Amino acid sequence: MARSAIINVMVQAAMKAGRSLARDFGEVQNLQVSLKGPGDYVTQADRRAEEILYTELSRARPGYSFLLEERGVVEGEDAQHRWLVDPLDGTTNFLHGLPIFSISIALERQGQIVAGVIYNPAMDELYTAERGGGAFLNDRRMRVAARRELSDCVIGTGIPHLGRGHHGRALVDLRNVMAEVAGIRRFGSAALDLAYVAAGRMDGFWEDGLEPWDLAAGILMVREAGGFVTDRAGKQNMLENGSIVAGNEALHRALLKTLQKQAG
Ligand code: IPD
Ligand code: CA
Ligand code: CA
Repeated sequence: MARSAIINVMVQAAMKAGRSLARDFGEVQNLQVSLKGPGDYVTQADRRAEEILYTELSRARPGYSFLLEERGVVEGEDAQHRWLVDPLDGTTNFLHGLPIFSISIALERQGQIVAGVIYNPAMDELYTAERGGGAFLNDRRMRVAARRELSDCVIGTGIPHLGRGHHGRALVDLRNVMAEVAGIRRFGSAALDLAYVAAGRMDGFWEDGLEPWDLAAGILMVREAGGFVTDRAGKQNMLENGSIVAGNEALHRALLKTLQKQAG
């Protein structure tokens, strides 16, 4: 499969950072049994991966701006282009030795997401998408699943935890969605959740309280695989308010409706 120059740049950066994360993940698995635990090690793994991504992407496209989870905003001379980078999405999984984590890189041009790469180094699964060019898992074209009834569907979500998110709202949502679907999954990497929707592995996904670096690449991935993405109000403000609902056209509509229900 021929990839465009920009996707190649992103894939090479993701692969290099992925090798670093995969090495560190091996060590984290050993550290599970130590009293001290892998906490500090994971913080370093996260920073190392981000450093690689920052170096590789700035070398390939000097002057582009950045929004990086750890480093924050880096203003480049080129204000038209901005990289949105999460070097390790699924930190809690990584910390616990669960192989469900990813690197997420998106490129924005004049405020529009034009390219996205999500890579899970533990499974060697590479998801790529370019605006207007479709979405791919490794070399295979992705399409969102075709199921139309919530009762047949597996839906992903994120569940808030200690110190994070609106627990009351999340419980109401869970209660409403679980009553209508075949199953709910909580994998722990929002970027991969969206990639799974794009790949047709999950029929839909919703979560609140996310950050732009969790979402940007995945949003493009789902759209390029033929899916629909909005925030829970049905608007396009996902990067601003961190709320996301994704699926094929029918399921996206059904999920939005279910998520608007109140408790009871
Ligand atoms: C987290 C993951 C998780 C989501 C959290 C995010 P991190 O990102 O995407 O699935 O539920 O809200 O913060 O912290 O592992 O990069
Ligand atoms: Ca994240
Ligand atoms: Ca992260």
